[in-house]
Amino acid sequence: MNVLLIGSGGREHALAWKIKQSPLVDRLICAPGNAGMAQIAVCTPLNASDHDAVLALVRAEDIDFVVIGPEQPLIEGIVDRLEAEGILAFGPSQQAAQLEGSKSFTKELCTANNIPTAAYARFTDAAKAKAYLATQAIPIVIKADGLAAGKGVVIAESLNQAEGAVDEMFAGRFGAAGAAIVIEEFMTGEEASFFALTDGDLILPLVTSQDHKRVGDGDTGPNTGGMGAYSPAPVMTPALIAQTMAEIIEPTVSGLAKIGCPYKGVLYAGLMITNEGPKLIEYNARFGDPETQVLMPRLQSDLVPVLLDIAKGALTTSALQWKPEAAMTVVMAANGYPGSYDKGSEIKGVQAAESGGAIVFHAGTTMDGGKLVANGGRVLNVTALGSTISAAQRSAYEAVDAIDWPGGFCRRDIGWRALEREPASTAD
Ligand code: AMP
Ligand code: GLY
Repeated sequence: MNVLLIGSGGREHALAWKIKQSPLVDRLICAPGNAGMAQIAVCTPLNASDHDAVLALVRAEDIDFVVIGPEQPLIEGIVDRLEAEGILAFGPSQQAAQLEGSKSFTKELCTANNIPTAAYARFTDAAKAKAYLATQAIPIVIKADGLAAGKGVVIAESLNQAEGAVDEMFAGRFGAAGAAIVIEEFMTGEEASFFALTDGDLILPLVTSQDHKRVGDGDTGPNTGGMGAYSPAPVMTPALIAQTMAEIIEPTVSGLAKIGCPYKGVLYAGLMITNEGPKLIEYNARFGDPETQVLMPRLQSDLVPVLLDIAKGALTTSALQWKPEAAMTVVMAANGYPGSYDKGSEIKGVQAAESGGAIVFHAGTTMDGGKLVANGGRVLNVTALGSTISAAQRSAYEAVDAIDWPGGFCRRDIGWRALEREPASTAD
């Protein structure tokens, strides 16, 4: 079959790498893709928000199955459009993708199904929001209700700052995403993420993984898209996984089905492990980036039949096979990221990095006159397997050190929380 994969990040390179290994796949087209994906698939420019253009590409390339990487096309309803045209697609419907696209949709689902999450209130009016703030404990969390590229969250350490955030959001700092806001109780604990595939009824949890959101070593500095990840993530003990499935994931899937909005795709739950147990921070309606870059190298089973089953709404697999090894990916980003950064700096040594067995998944890269150059904020994901997290870490950083790119940087401590917990870290 011919497969179209939409997206251009490290997550999509890892998905492409795995999809390409399936004996079911004749041709893989990536749109728009990047320089790494171009080495294993045909890449073609595409604006995924232009649904007519997506459909034209599907027809022109005789595509049988579409896999959507990022959230934006899902929230814009690309899966509904493809299905209406009789084309199989992996990803939730527009209505179900509200799980990521609307904080209040998710909060209401939590309330209706007793899913543990931070207490909250939703406002469309600054005066009412401020009156509520005055009754709440500090710190407190203010969020734009809509999709704000992960940036619409303010953790206010004072009432003044909270009121300022309310004013800014209603003044349009996050555009339409801030037309409504959610004010949430501040939760404390360790953050963890959890992924599960579902056809709307059956649920297939993935092995555990964890990313590092902050730009600096020791998890300091501003939030980013993710600076590295590892799998397994020992923070998610078997008991916590069971609790998360029973209290969060299962009621989400059944709760969505109950309101006539079955969820087909991958559920990405952002969790806070509090003293009272795991609580939901947020859902994403897609795979994680860079978590996918450690999940795909560990996945032994063919991914394509599972994604196809889910697209058809009928999972037939009850368990995925995983390699016992741990995996780590280190993100190399352009100097200045997550602030402003330059594009166009040359990257050398990727082949040398891969010669020892590491895999370099590309994100923001492109070819310029035969040279590999940076073309984004997050640029490379240097990934390695190992018998333990520390072995995977050693191999990943050896590969990082083989890359010659003065225009980029990386964190040097990916996996530190897991390393503190080794040797218990090999259990999923
Ligand atoms: P979100 O975009 O909802 O994932 O929020 C971004 C980040 O803000 C999360 O990864 C957490 O670090 C933090 N955060 C969001 N909501 C809360 C909350 N209610 N309590 C504590 N931290 C939060
Ligand atoms: N790992 C963060 C994200 O995918 O949103």
